[in-house]
Amino acid sequence: MKKIAIITCKGGTGKTTTAINLGHCLALSGKKVLIVDCDSQANVGMAFQKQPQKGLSELMTTGDVEIVNLRPNLYLIDSGGMRIVETELYLARQPERELRLRQVLSKLHGTDYVICDCPPAINLINVNVLNYVDGVVVPVSMDFFACEGAKKTIKLLDDIYTKIGHKVELMGILATFYDVRTRVSKTIYNQLLTEYADKVFTTRIRINTQLKEAQMLYKTIFEHAPYSNGALDYFLFAKEIAGLDRAESLVEAPQGEAWTT
Ligand SMILES: Nc1ncnc2c1ncn2[C@@H]1O[C@H](COP(=O)(O)OP(=O)(O)O)[C@@H](O)[C@H]1O
Ligand SMILES: [Mg+2]
Repeated sequence: MKKIAIITCKGGTGKTTTAINLGHCLALSGKKVLIVDCDSQANVGMAFQKQPQKGLSELMTTGDVEIVNLRPNLYLIDSGGMRIVETELYLARQPERELRLRQVLSKLHGTDYVICDCPPAINLINVNVLNYVDGVVVPVSMDFFACEGAKKTIKLLDDIYTKIGHKVELMGILATFYDVRTRVSKTIYNQLLTEYADKVFTTRIRINTQLKEAQMLYKTIFEHAPYSNGALDYFLFAKEIAGLDRAESLVEAPQGEAWTT
């Protein structure tokens, strides 16, 4: 079981979009995937029209949770919306407050991937996430503030190691909102390469309106526009994450549809 956080301190960088579409691509390839929404915005549940009564909030306080089946092989633990904010306050008063997520999910078995969709903050929930996961993906929308957010997040990985001794792998920095028409995207991507070298994913997620449309229609990109750039980019990214074979990933494509390369 591989536990991955999609995390960075900057909002609007494509974290949730990445969690959903990476998750669904892996699920289509036959892997069992659990998305854990750790953000009070609860956008993952919204994107699938699911708002269960018991989410991460309840899991971290009472140990009770409803795991929602989103698609074949794809599951969700909802954040609980604003209740997660109260949970954070409750946690702050508990011993081992930084290890709660690891404790409550320790009995989770039979899942190939756990993907945590994180809030854009350095808060107790994210510290819990970083103490739980094996690796992180840091999405950087191609702008200066997003680069700074990524730096802060990467530093946090070192802090966790120093404080708790838990080593979190920087799986990679993912370029999102990549605009092939502008020099800014290219320049920032090259700067990331200079600074982080092989820790930058080769796949760049291009700006693609169909990714936005898909969410409005409560679909993933593979259901809404399987031939789009968005579907191709997230497929290539999933391949980098999991070493997916393309043929394998097409086995359970929605309604027999495939997407192009
Ligand atoms: N590559 C993309 N191209 C166009 N729109 C995108 C892309 N990735 C995400 N979006 C849209 O941008 C908004 C913010 O993305 P989201 O994934 O919610 O970011 P975050 O979770 O980091 O706040 C959403 O409306 C989403 O549909
Ligand atoms: Mg989000």
